[in-house]
Amino acid sequence: MELFRTIAEVREALAADRAQGLTVGFVPTMGALHLGHLSLVERAAAENDRVIASIFVNPTQFNDPNDLKNYPRTMEADSELLGSRTCHYLFAPEVGEIYPEKDTRQFQFGKLESVMEGAFRPGHFQGVAQVVSKLFDIVRPDRAYFGYKDFQQYSIICNMVDQLKLPVAIVPCPIVREVDGLAMSSRNRLLTPEHRAVAPKIYALLKEAVSAARNGEDPATVRAGLIAKMEAIPLLRLEYFDIVDERTLEAVVSWDAPGRKVGCIALYAGSVRLIDNIVFDL
Ligand code: PAJ
Repeated sequence: MELFRTIAEVREALAADRAQGLTVGFVPTMGALHLGHLSLVERAAAENDRVIASIFVNPTQFNDPNDLKNYPRTMEADSELLGSRTCHYLFAPEVGEIYPEKDTRQFQFGKLESVMEGAFRPGHFQGVAQVVSKLFDIVRPDRAYFGYKDFQQYSIICNMVDQLKLPVAIVPCPIVREVDGLAMSSRNRLLTPEHRAVAPKIYALLKEAVSAARNGEDPATVRAGLIAKMEAIPLLRLEYFDIVDERTLEAVVSWDAPGRKVGCIALYAGSVRLIDNIVFDL
């Protein structure tokens, strides 16, 4: 695997690949890699001739300075993990390489960025769109891989690609979980043992919500049921649980409406913010 620190190096290597007619799959990350990230790399390797991953802790998407400061940075372990998979290039730039000056672009995502993560993390998706559009411009991938774990981020990226008419296919990938059900996340390693022990409850409650829906409860009742159970767990502090339409992110009022429905949750386990979701496959 070749490590690149500059945009020029990435452009040069990929231009040579493209000149040979090779396809390029891209996996953008913020590092502290785990099996969830690696599943994206493996999928990219299966579907493209060349795989490039990026590691860049993007300051513009952090609305909480402490979160940015504490975000785990494990470059050496990350590069070993990527080296153990089919990953041809790693792009790990410094902040000044991506933002030589302040990015003042404003994207219009309407409702997509005003609900859920958008409501609780103001400016977050503007930062995500800024960095991903820059990375797409540098890498110019044929396909880019995003985890369904960050479901709203996936919607935002699809919308941005449509708006900018970028020639890249966005490939959603399933959530990879620990054996006890906790969705893998770079932030899991920041959990205290007590919070780590209770965190599998999140997925357990999401699965219970799907069972309740299968047993005939309407969306509002399912939602209220999960919220009540979550609020009874002392170590977890719920921010939201919403059941939304996969495309519009509008709250679901009936299971009979067309389209996939996704139950999205965000909460704090101590000082660590976790998100997860489940598709209501009824
Ligand atoms: P990061 O949180 O590092 O995640 C990188 C990619 O890995 C995202 O597409 C995310 O959805 C996916 N991912 C994380 N945990 C996963 C899991 N348990 N199962 C499957 N996929 C998982 O998301 C970001 O970085 C950033 O916002 C980024 C897109 C890189 C822009 O800065």
